Amino acid sequence: MLADLPGERLDALGAELRATGVKSDAIALQVENREACANAVAAAVARHGGVDVLINCAGVNTRMRPELYAEEEWDRIVDINLKGTFNMCQAVHAPMTLAGKGKIINIGSILALASNAVTAAYSASKGGVLQLTRSLACAWAADGITVNVIQPGWIDTALSRQARVDIPGHAERVVATTPLARWGEPEDLIGSTLFLASAASDFVTGASLVVDGGVTAHI
Ligand SMILES: NC(=O)c1ccc[n+]([C@@H]2O[C@H](COP(=O)([O-])OP(=O)(O)OC[C@H]3O[C@@H](n4cnc5c(N)ncnc54)[C@H](O)[C@@H]3O)[C@@H](O)[C@H]2O)c1
Repeated sequence: MLADLPGERLDALGAELRATGVKSDAIALQVENREACANAVAAAVARHGGVDVLINCAGVNTRMRPELYAEEEWDRIVDINLKGTFNMCQAVHAPMTLAGKGKIINIGSILALASNAVTAAYSASKGGVLQLTRSLACAWAADGITVNVIQPGWIDTALSRQARVDIPGHAERVVATTPLARWGEPEDLIGSTLFLASAASDFVTGASLVVDGGVTAHI
């Protein structure tokens, strides 16, 4: 079940999945809207009988020096990245508890672990996602729910493509400072996601799994 902002992206991904023979369903929502998240989960339960795994992937960033943030821009980034993640987690708690099991995978960022001068709101929100993950893992372990966070490094997507435009020399610097000497591809996150979604990770909760080509290991 895909959930994203309404629009072409959601429709196109659904069509792409169906073309490969995968059953897929979709719902449009804004994750910062708590009621919309509750309705999306209720729809998933009604149509598919429950939620086995929740992957919280929605995220936005605006790069600027911290002294320049308008209040609305700060709120937008923190609301989508942090509150949105919480909203979806809270919405799946009841059906996962009823089932006696569930796996929540939050997508954080290495900018939760280190930072730079132009990502105050994003870094703060992703730092929040890390601590949210740990707190929920403690709270919901007894309900059979595991909660973990994947911290991707520089992955080639629409989000990071904008960073290449905003920050001169960024694309080359990423390659130069990454031990595995390349940008990550979205496919580089498949293994960690499958691990955290499967029984192989049943004794793993509150964990932060860094998938970054070694960039945070490097000084
Ligand atoms: N690309 C990277 O280098 C990188 C690195 C670390 C972490 N991440 C994280 O990975 C996740 C996916 O990002 P991406 O790189 O694929 O970027 P992306 O822009 O391609 O995807 C972000 C997705 O979030 C959705 N979204 C935005 N606002 C939303 C809202 N209000 N409600 C619901 N959905 C909304 C967008 O429609 C889009 O599908 C994000 O959480 C991002 O912070 C990305």
